[in-house]
Amino acid sequence: MVDVTVERLSKKFGGLNAVDDVSFTVPSGTVLTLLGPSGCGKTTILRCIAGLETATGGRISIGGDPVFDSERDILVPSEKREIGMVFQSYAIWPHLTVFQNVAFPLKLRSVGKAELQERVMAALKSVDLDHLHDRYPNQLSGGQQQRAVLARCLVYRPRVLLLDEPLANLDAALREEMRFELREVQQKFGLTSIYVTHDQSEAMALSDNILVLSGGSIISSGSPREVFSKPQHRFVASFLGGANLIPARIVVGRQGPPQIVGIDAAGALLVEGEGDVGLATTVSVRPSDVSLVPVGKTDPVAVTGTLRRVTFLGEVNDCVVEIAGCEIRARTDPDGQWQIGETVGIAFHPSRTYLLAAEDK
Ligand SMILES: Nc1ncnc2c1ncn2[C@@H]1O[C@H](COP(=O)(O)OP(=O)(O)OP(=O)(O)O)[C@@H](O)[C@H]1O
Ligand SMILES: [Mg+2]
Repeated sequence: MVDVTVERLSKKFGGLNAVDDVSFTVPSGTVLTLLGPSGCGKTTILRCIAGLETATGGRISIGGDPVFDSERDILVPSEKREIGMVFQSYAIWPHLTVFQNVAFPLKLRSVGKAELQERVMAALKSVDLDHLHDRYPNQLSGGQQQRAVLARCLVYRPRVLLLDEPLANLDAALREEMRFELREVQQKFGLTSIYVTHDQSEAMALSDNILVLSGGSIISSGSPREVFSKPQHRFVASFLGGANLIPARIVVGRQGPPQIVGIDAAGALLVEGEGDVGLATTVSVRPSDVSLVPVGKTDPVAVTGTLRRVTFLGEVNDCVVEIAGCEIRARTDPDGQWQIGETVGIAFHPSRTYLLAAEDK
C-alpha cells in the first residue's frame, strides 16, 4: 500500500505563500488531481513531494514512511523517494533511441543486461511503443515521445507517479486520446499518482479525486462528480465549467418557511433554497443547464429576457440572454432558430441550479 499523505504543507518564496497549509491524502492506487489556475501552487506541491523543493513547514509521507517533517528534521533526498515524474516538456534525450532512453534509469541502478532488456521491452509494451524501440525521438510524434517518457518512469517501478501537465504540449485530439491511455496505464500498474493540470475535462477523465487550489490553498475537494456538480464556492463554480453567477436575493415564494430564491431585479423564481428573506446571494448555473424556450407557445414562462448573442459552435449554440441587466449564458441545441433581439424564455435545470455558500457571495 502506497498512500501519499501531505499534512499542513507550506512553502514560502520570500514573502509569498506559494503553498499555504495544504493537507490531503492520496489513497493507494488512486489518482489525485491538483486543479487550479496558473500560479496557484500546483507544481510547487509536486516538487515538495518529489523532494526537488524543500517545504517551509509540514509533513509528507509515502507509504507510511515520513520523507519530510519540518518539526522532526526529516528530509529524505529525492532519489531515495522512489518517485517517477513526467513533466510538460518531454525531457527525452534526442541522441538516444527510445530503447536507450527507457533503459537509462536501469543503467543508473546497475541492472544486469538480460533483466534490463526484458524490463525495457515490457515497459515499452505497456505504453504500446515496443515496435518503435529503435527510433530516435525526432522520428516520433509528440504523443509517442510522451509515452516514451512514461515508459522511462514505469521501468524502474516507482512507488508514486507525479505528472505535471504531461499533455499540455499535445494537440487537442491527441491530448484526449492520451488521457485515456494514461488512465489505463495507471490502473494497470495500480500506481498511486498525483496529476497536475488546469484543464478541467482532463481532471474529470483521469482522477479519482480532485483538489481545487487557488492562491496556494485548497478551495474544494472530492470526487470529480462532487467537485463539479455541486460547486459551493464562486471560484469553483466559475473555474469549472464557466458557470453563470447570477445575483439573487431570497424572496418568499410560497407559504411556509422562506425557501424560494429569485433574481433580484427581475423578481423571477429560479431555484428552491433556504435562507433569510431579503438576503443577497448568488445562484450558480452552468450554461449547459440553461435552456431557451419560445415565449407564448407553451406554458407560461417564468423568466424572460432578450437574446443578445448566438454563436454556433458545432455541437451547440452558445447564447447570451440579458435579463434585467444580467447576462446569462446558455448552451442550446444548434438547430434552434433564434433571432438576436427577440424576447425568449429561459428555463433552469432545477436540480443543477445552486445557491452558493452565503460567505462566498
Ligand atoms: N523558485 C521560485 N522562486 C520564487 N517564486 C516561485 C518559485 N517557484 C514558484 N514561485 C511562485 O510560487 C507560486 C506558485 O508557483 P507554481 O509553479 O507552483 O504554480 P502552478 O500552479 O504550477 O502554475 P502553472 O499552472 O503556471 O504551472 C507562483 O506565484 C510562482 O511565481
Ligand atoms: Mg506548474
